[in-house]
Amino acid sequence: MCGIVCYVGKRPAAPLLLDGLKRLEYRGYDSAGLAVQGDKGTRCIKSVGKIEELQAKLNNEELPGQIGIAHTRWATHGKVTEENAHPQTDDNGRIFVIHNGIIENYQSLKEELAGEGHKFKSQTDTEVLPHLIEREMSKNGNSLRDAVRKALRKVDGTFGMCILSSDHPGQVIVARRGSPIVIGVGSDEYFAASDVSALRRYTDQVIYLEDNEMAVLTLEGFEMSTFQNERVARSAETVEWEPDAAEKQGYPHFMLKEIFEQPETLKNALRGRLVPGEGVPKLGGLVPVWEKLMVCRHLIIVSCGTSYFAGLVGRYVFEELTDMLVEVELASEFRYRSLNFRPDTAVLAISQSGETADTLAALREARRKGATLLGMVNVVGSTIARETDAGIYIHAGPEIGVASTKVFTAQLALLTCMALLIGRHQRLPVTYGIELIKALEDLPAKVARVLRRADRIEAAAQKFHKYDNFLFLGRRYLFPIALEGALKLKEISYIHAEGYAAGEMKHGPIALIDENFPTVALVPRIASYDKMVSNLQEVKTRNGPVIAVATEGDDAIHELADEIITIPESHELLTPILATVSLQLFAYYCAGYRGCEIDKPRNLAKSVTVE
Ligand code: F6R
Repeated sequence: MCGIVCYVGKRPAAPLLLDGLKRLEYRGYDSAGLAVQGDKGTRCIKSVGKIEELQAKLNNEELPGQIGIAHTRWATHGKVTEENAHPQTDDNGRIFVIHNGIIENYQSLKEELAGEGHKFKSQTDTEVLPHLIEREMSKNGNSLRDAVRKALRKVDGTFGMCILSSDHPGQVIVARRGSPIVIGVGSDEYFAASDVSALRRYTDQVIYLEDNEMAVLTLEGFEMSTFQNERVARSAETVEWEPDAAEKQGYPHFMLKEIFEQPETLKNALRGRLVPGEGVPKLGGLVPVWEKLMVCRHLIIVSCGTSYFAGLVGRYVFEELTDMLVEVELASEFRYRSLNFRPDTAVLAISQSGETADTLAALREARRKGATLLGMVNVVGSTIARETDAGIYIHAGPEIGVASTKVFTAQLALLTCMALLIGRHQRLPVTYGIELIKALEDLPAKVARVLRRADRIEAAAQKFHKYDNFLFLGRRYLFPIALEGALKLKEISYIHAEGYAAGEMKHGPIALIDENFPTVALVPRIASYDKMVSNLQEVKTRNGPVIAVATEGDDAIHELADEIITIPESHELLTPILATVSLQLFAYYCAGYRGCEIDKPRNLAKSVTVE
């Protein structure tokens, strides 16, 4: 969603800020702005639309200065206008604030401030912040740092923010509650951002602010403290991925690059985690809760979107391999359920970003109910990673494409590992473990094999991309993959698609089938094969076009399908991963043929930090 970048150093700030904003573009935004401070004061420029439009404005303006803050906004409160873009300022235009998150009590604060004579120019919740800070400085004579701290005590809601003041040159204040801020430590220069990818090109040394912490950045260094004014000392961590991991590396889109990276991301996710001889995986991140996990019989998985579908696959896998009773809940619905929290309940949050507001809210609710909290996240140091008792990092590298691809398949592989680990301690024999670990080791090569058939999948997309509706069908582990295939297609190509459990077809959706309504059927040769074949026969009888995702060498399926996408034979538990890769490519090529903006689908944001 919104993006934050800040620079304090000796180089011209504006180009660095723009570069940082460009690297955050993938998160989704509708307007942008920046404020740069130089010897002659602070200049602020904003624009609606793409960063190029901000850049065009900048090229017409002198914007010297070596300190600055910049923001991309994804509108929540107030329309997409220049007035509503950030930075937001106080009455005198001396305090500049950029903000991610939502100030929940902004209405009452606004009324209070307006009653004291403050004038508001925007419809944003953010605008109360510079006014509150100004009030603390002018009424109570506070320093900028104290004014920010006191102002923030009045605020309910979430924020990651940067503040610049014309009256206190040479410093930027950053603060966090519920929305990420990372400080980048360079040599004689400092950065802050909402996401490491904005600053990774300039440094690999980072410090994540925790909730209710702030920092003052100056040329001399930075000082961190809590909102209660206690000093915080934390050493920098090294970012593990190289800067070019967040570049397209010759691919036309991040999404295609990330689809093609999957053999590698799967290897990275599994590296050091498989112990073939013992038929048991090693997941060091679970060690802190191992004793509790061993007696735990009830697992609730909470997540959103694609990560939710990973959870749905996980349920089948856990139930197959362990004695646990597993429930999978949409994080946004979790609070409305009155779930049975027995003492042996663990809650597992699955999230690429580790910042999804609904997933976090669900976790906090589970914490109140006394559950053991586990996380499976990709972004190191993210809020979910920090708020859980233990967890598993996905290690898939930065995912820039808005549609999640490589992280989803890595999540599936790691859920399989986690279930196998627990299952081996409960009831699975070593032979089973050895066989599944061998299949996991072979998986990257099998994914590479699916990718080698990209041209066949592209041909299918070329033939089918003009249809306006699709049905995706699967059974058991492949039912959630039907949901995921449909989601990928609608997100990036705007084609309407429904994912269904194939057994449900006769209970309604079959009414839609005709020659204009293609079905994508997940029909590899696994236990559900015969039942899927019957479903396809029903579709064919009604003249519905069929694209079948089938096992290599399955000649029988030719009679029922208009197009066949093949995947290699593999362990049944891993077929969802292979089928997914083919559906990702299908969605990608359909979107391409329809001329869609694949990496920036309309209305979508990469990390959904509002509930
Ligand atoms: C779809 C997609 C979203 C996310 C969802 C949860 O391609 O990316 O549906 O899966 O917003 O995000 P995370 O996994 O970051 O919690």
